[in-house]
Amino acid sequence: MCGIVGYIGNKQAYNILIKGLKRLEYRGYDSAGIAIINQGCKIFKKQGKVSELDALVKSKNLHGTIGLGHTRWATHGEPNDTNAHPHESMHKKFIIIHNGIIENYTRLKKRLEDRGYKFKSDTDTEVLVNLIEYIYIKGKLDAETAVRLALSKVVGAYGLVIACTDEKDKLIAARKGSPLVIGVGEQEYFLASDATPIVEYTKSVIYLHDDDMAVIGRNGMSLRNLKSTKIHKKPIIQKLELDVDKIEKNGFAHYMLKEIHEQPRSIKDTFRGRLRPDVNALKLGGLHYVMKDIIHAKRIIIIACGTSYHAGLVGEFLIEEFGRIPTEVEYASEFRYRDPIIYESDIVIAISQSGETADTLAAIELAKSKGATVVGICNVVGSSIPRATMGGVYTHAGPEIGVASTKAFTTQVTVLIMMAMEIGYKNGAIKEEQYSKLIKELSLIPEKISTILKQGDYIKEISAIYKDATNALYLGRGYLYPVAMEGALKLKEISYIHAEGYPAAEMKHGPIALIDENMPVIIIATKDKSYEKIVNNIQEVKARKGIVIAIVTEGDNTISSMADHVVEVPDTEFALAPLLTVIPLQLFSYYIAVMRGCNVDQPRNLAKSVTVE
Ligand code: F6R
Repeated sequence: MCGIVGYIGNKQAYNILIKGLKRLEYRGYDSAGIAIINQGCKIFKKQGKVSELDALVKSKNLHGTIGLGHTRWATHGEPNDTNAHPHESMHKKFIIIHNGIIENYTRLKKRLEDRGYKFKSDTDTEVLVNLIEYIYIKGKLDAETAVRLALSKVVGAYGLVIACTDEKDKLIAARKGSPLVIGVGEQEYFLASDATPIVEYTKSVIYLHDDDMAVIGRNGMSLRNLKSTKIHKKPIIQKLELDVDKIEKNGFAHYMLKEIHEQPRSIKDTFRGRLRPDVNALKLGGLHYVMKDIIHAKRIIIIACGTSYHAGLVGEFLIEEFGRIPTEVEYASEFRYRDPIIYESDIVIAISQSGETADTLAAIELAKSKGATVVGICNVVGSSIPRATMGGVYTHAGPEIGVASTKAFTTQVTVLIMMAMEIGYKNGAIKEEQYSKLIKELSLIPEKISTILKQGDYIKEISAIYKDATNALYLGRGYLYPVAMEGALKLKEISYIHAEGYPAAEMKHGPIALIDENMPVIIIATKDKSYEKIVNNIQEVKARKGIVIAIVTEGDNTISSMADHVVEVPDTEFALAPLLTVIPLQLFSYYIAVMRGCNVDQPRNLAKSVTVE
């Protein structure tokens, strides 16, 4: 939610900032802006995409080696040129870019208005920049002190970068709840919401922690904790494990398509160093210190949002089947507000691609405050959730830039399968033979996904038939019910077709009323113990003239003779079937969205990383 980029050094800032904004555009894309600080400060803001801002500013030949850039996902105030960042204070002393929400902004605004401040925008951010300026002028302070004092009056979340026109050769950055990374180059520094705008310039980075404030000049920086009395902290420089080619489209029309096709590789990366079919072994090093507690847990609670929640539902079935430990899954946004019963003996698993989802982070803090052991399953290395948890497993899917999650889901499920197997094997719930079989079957999944991906053109043909549908129903049973929910989410979020995901047996309790000859029903029906039941569900749909698109196991003649279209996936263990059956659903949504002319990588109203509540 909102992308921030800043530069201070000896190069011209404009190109670095605009390129950085294009890399961060997946975080928000309703408006963008840039400020270049030279003798004075020039600010340009534009509603719409970063490319529109670039078209406006490019010809102006902006010179300056310090600058700020922002791409917005609106929270306070509609997306327009005025509400876009950067925001400047009334007396033009400070310029700010901000990701997050200032919750007490109405009260602060009123106080500033009473003192003569006027506001141009509807944003909470303009209130903050004026508060800083007010404190700076009134107290005759330096910029760093004014920022620190202003932030002490703020309730909310922020990742922000500030420039002061009186103290031109520095940028001030601070974070609380919204991510911020500093790239350390040769006499230059880069600031960004994540490392993607930084990686082509330097691999040395400093991840700011909550309540950190950095003051950055061309030749050095200092770091302090906003709350502590100790002035300086030692910045810890880390090596960035990210390559530029991982954040390019590499010939694919969209990031989403690239990421769908990356899944065989990303799952192999999730296995790396963990799954060893050659020696029949599995090792999850990140859980080493907590595994003993996990295997003896009385209860496991999984918390997540969106697609990660769907992976969590698969996880519930996996952990109960293989680990035999009662497991519950909750939307983090519900869990955190309903005063849940949490025991010290509980294990909480937080799942998040970005590692920055505000509700998941808040739910983690709640669980920790009640004494539970919290572990994470995350993709983004160094993000907030792995730092807030007591152990965990990185999915290592590589950067996911398409706003709709694809490889995040399959790699999260891969980790959950490995966790469930590990729990079951260690606590004796599964025997050697089953464990070995699962290891072998799991290791075959990447190749099986590759064979499904080869059916892309065929799935595109089916998509063309249903691209104008207004509704769709997705059905599955057992492990495939969360897949139905995930398929429906993919369709709605990128093609804006209303879709519902349901456990197939629930169809009779309501959704069946929706079925008519215009309703595509996507039924995920690979062979397992409830196969006969789902065949009955297909007949129920056909009896009401519904259209059936079925995802079936290779060689299934029964369903093929009943359904309007079938997509075959290779046979596997039922518990592993989500990893295969979700692939045709991802492709189906992708092609439909493209044919409807939707912006697949940047669907309307969405942003990749939901860092606001
Ligand atoms: C859907 C999607 C979202 C995210 C959700 C959680 O395609 O991407 O539903 O899954 O916002 O995000 P993370 O996993 O980053 O916590």
